[in-house]
Amino acid sequence: MHIHKYEKIWLIFGIGCLFVFLTVLGVSAFAKGNQPPSCLTTIDPEKVDQTPPFNKPGLVKTGNNEYQLNMVASAFAYTPAQVEIPKGAKVTINITTKDVIHGFEVVGTNINMMVEPGYVNSFTKTFDKTGEYTILCNEYCGAGHHMMTARIKVVD
Ligand code: CUA
Repeated sequence: MHIHKYEKIWLIFGIGCLFVFLTVLGVSAFAKGNQPPSCLTTIDPEKVDQTPPFNKPGLVKTGNNEYQLNMVASAFAYTPAQVEIPKGAKVTINITTKDVIHGFEVVGTNINMMVEPGYVNSFTKTFDKTGEYTILCNEYCGAGHHMMTARIKVVD
């Protein structure tokens, strides 16, 4: 079969563009510490209080300078309401909800998760600076939505 010269050039150009596009997409998707949503872990929202690790919410040391922060959202509070994290700690936050959809935004950071009943969402972050961070619910969840906050203290 004979392929016309221009046809060949455009074919190569097209395939080249596809590779450039896929490379840009693949690299940018994970650049700047972006993480894909982790909606793969399920939980029975009726049994959050009995399901580890959410039966004992709080900070758990899992390794050298590594921690797990297990939190439960419910109308209209987070448990625990205040957490102290050692400076420099790498923390994996796991969160679920007992009732409706809530938000989990840590103001001034790139942590922003939707908390859905039946699912566990996770985000890993290293807290390099001491200070106080406010956790906010940014999904309207009812009458007490605007009061739904918690606090993270990063200490030396
Ligand atoms: Cu919880 Cu808004």
